[in-house]
Amino acid sequence: MKLLSVVTALLSTSAALGFAPAPMGANRVATSLNAGADELYIDQDRRNIMNLILVGSAGVTVAGLGLPYIYFFFPPSAGGGGGGVSAKDALGNDLFAKDYLDSKLAGDRSLAQGLKGDATYLIVKEDKTLESYGLNAVCTHLGCVVPWSAPNNKFMCPCHGSQYAPTGAVVRGPAPLPLALAHCETAEDGKIVFSPWTETDFRTDGKPWWN
Ligand code: FES
Repeated sequence: MKLLSVVTALLSTSAALGFAPAPMGANRVATSLNAGADELYIDQDRRNIMNLILVGSAGVTVAGLGLPYIYFFFPPSAGGGGGGVSAKDALGNDLFAKDYLDSKLAGDRSLAQGLKGDATYLIVKEDKTLESYGLNAVCTHLGCVVPWSAPNNKFMCPCHGSQYAPTGAVVRGPAPLPLALAHCETAEDGKIVFSPWTETDFRTDGKPWWN
């Protein structure tokens, strides 16, 4: 009987403890967890704003990296018509036909920046107008820039002795090919404009080798 009394007393004590209110410390923990959860909760408007900021930042980054890459595949602005590029002087200034011709003599062949920035000869004809083509100054042998020799009326490469006629045709090797051509014209705004030459090479009656 005594044993039964002890067991009953123990069970009663355990049950009483199970339903007893939690200690003060435990309450504080639960409260602070709830408060933390409230602080961590972000309403839908805030989420939308954060998403917009995230997408906007990513868009600006992608555009900043991607646009120059895309732009690379398009030719620079013509500064005139016909899909060409403005001829520029050594300082990068656009050349205007009237000013240019006023400053040059008939027969002059001077360098300008042409297509893709290549050194390109502008040719002043005897009537003091611009020739309808420019000549790329890069030697077709090994790539030296070929100077114009007015006394010899030729382009004469200093590297290995190639010579070219005033039209850029080869008159002496080892250069295997004529100087590359580019169209040259005056735009409506007066700028000198180069554009790609894709037609037959009038010096060889063949396809342009530079295309
Ligand atoms: S680079 Fe002009 S002749 Fe060789």
